[in-house]
Amino acid sequence: MELIQLTNLRKVYSIGGLTIEALAGVSLDIGAQEFVAIMGPSGSGKSTLMHILGCLDSPTSGRYMFKGKDVSSLRSDDLAAVRNQDMGFVFQAYNLLPQMSALENVMLPLSYATKPVRDGRRKAEGLLEHVGLKDRMKNRPVELSGGEQQRVAIARSLMMDPSIILADEPTGNLNSKGAREVIDILKALHEEGKTIIYVTHDDNIGAQAERVIRIRDGLVVADEGD
Ligand SMILES: Nc1ncnc2c1ncn2[C@@H]1O[C@H](COP(=O)(O)OP(=O)(O)O)[C@@H](O)[C@H]1O
Ligand SMILES: [Mg+2]
Repeated sequence: MELIQLTNLRKVYSIGGLTIEALAGVSLDIGAQEFVAIMGPSGSGKSTLMHILGCLDSPTSGRYMFKGKDVSSLRSDDLAAVRNQDMGFVFQAYNLLPQMSALENVMLPLSYATKPVRDGRRKAEGLLEHVGLKDRMKNRPVELSGGEQQRVAIARSLMMDPSIILADEPTGNLNSKGAREVIDILKALHEEGKTIIYVTHDDNIGAQAERVIRIRDGLVVADEGD
């Protein structure tokens, strides 16, 4: 069974009488433990697709099956439950809370957890160690480089043991060294068995994935394996 099955997914935004078809009929399957890059020009629908994949938003029409369950028409609280249990997010701008330490940021998902987590603090420390930040746990985001902040965000995304990590332009704000560190961590997580889907503009970063899906005007225009 595929982890993700999308069938003719459409997303239409209406603003002030104007309609924008951000996704125009996307059908694709993504299996468990795949390592996928999504590429395409600005405005092509990448973030819209990521938001739907991550149960942050619902499609206008079409079907989204996640782990064999139809999540296309779930209400927002049921979507939130799927999201909290099984999905980790990483954003371009890290989205860390500035007044909190790296460790406190990683522990944040505990405060809205819908399933019990044992030894949350120890777990967060272990995750920060795993992303190479053992010595920076007490630092606040402003005291960390961009690459380090994104690694904190990745550690936070892992706190609830998601099976899938969704990263929307995770290296978009980083220099090449920071980008490399982040992509190496995503690659390592993939090798540990996570499904990873990330968006990038950068051909070199995209080339690290095992599969590249190209989107244009809300449609998949290419889908290439290694
Ligand atoms: N919340 C929204 N309301 C209205 N239009 C939106 C919204 N989000 C995205 N769009 C539009 O949908 C299209 C796809 O956007 P997006 O998915 O953000 O593309 P990308 O991430 O590839 O740059 C764009 O034309 C964008 O302006
Ligand atoms: Mg985007």
